Amino acid sequence: KRPAGAPDKAIARKVTKVGIIGAGLMASQFALLFVRRLQVPVVITDLDQGRVDKGVAGIRAEIDALLGKGRISRDESNRLKALVTGTTDKADFADCDWVIEAIFEELAAKQDVFAEIEKYVTAETVLATNTSSLSVEQIGAKLANPERLVGFHFFNPVAVMPLIEVVNTPKTNDETLSTAMVTAAKLRKNAVITKDTPGFVVNRILAKVLGEAMHAVDTGTPFEVVEQSTKPFGLPMTPFELLELVGLKVGAHVLDTHHAAFPDRFFDSANLHRLAELGHIFERDSKGKIKGVDKKALEIVKG
Ligand code: 3HC
Repeated sequence: KRPAGAPDKAIARKVTKVGIIGAGLMASQFALLFVRRLQVPVVITDLDQGRVDKGVAGIRAEIDALLGKGRISRDESNRLKALVTGTTDKADFADCDWVIEAIFEELAAKQDVFAEIEKYVTAETVLATNTSSLSVEQIGAKLANPERLVGFHFFNPVAVMPLIEVVNTPKTNDETLSTAMVTAAKLRKNAVITKDTPGFVVNRILAKVLGEAMHAVDTGTPFEVVEQSTKPFGLPMTPFELLELVGLKVGAHVLDTHHAAFPDRFFDSANLHRLAELGHIFERDSKGKIKGVDKKALEIVKG
């Protein structure tokens, strides 16, 4: 297998059309990046037309925001908008060279999505998953050609976070890995090649920090004390702010995956699942500025 390092541009596949499965927050963010940096058609799908329309509308709003900030011209904004389409018909993925998935973090659902999409795309199409901590190899378990699957893990907020983890499974072939590295470079992100281990590198470290912060709260340390205690680290966000940013459901899932893989080293948190049901930890003002920990969130952790 190719060792971690520079991609072989000669064998990388040319990406002339991108397909995106899932039209949620993460997918919409990287859809914009693909269309802006690659300047190719991007087609986006989800379970139903409502979700698709919402995703496409969100991308268009972000294009308008770039225009408003003077980052792109009106011509450019019109061109980008025209390149983004939504569909519920997988046949529209037939001429995609690159398909990336960002649906909810459930292994069986991801396996089925890839097995289905493989029926529509060509044998050359590279398949990528933005999973945050599931095994990429297992996600490809139902693929006829699992060597074309690679992990391509973005970080939130996609527009500003400079890293992509390119997850190299034992089955990923050189063409796929090189296409992923060249694509990441075109998106102007720094790519690192990681092993297909739970949480790869970033979320493995993050699961430790977020898991310890939740465990402190779960075992009686007040939220505010954990918040104040993490400020001196100089990180841009506290662990709880970060949990809200990535989504409490995603955060809970990341902790569960790590706890299942390494029960002696990682905590899971039933309270985090309850907070995910509530949908937030902090009370915010109309501009999104944190006012304090939400009363209902405090009740949840106090049991
Ligand atoms: N979505 C999109 N863009 C955002 C954003 C958001 N939620 N938050 C901020 N931005 C953009 C702003 O629009 C602004 O862009 P502009 O320069 O084009 O106007 C730029 O980011 C800077 O924003 P601010 O001036 O508000 O800058 P801050 O200094 O407050 O920084 C931050 C905001 C970049 C989000 C910073 O707080 C940060 O780096 N936080 C940590 C983020 C992090 O660690 N992410 C990784 C999470 S792990 C993950 O995603 C993996 C997953 O699998 C769990």
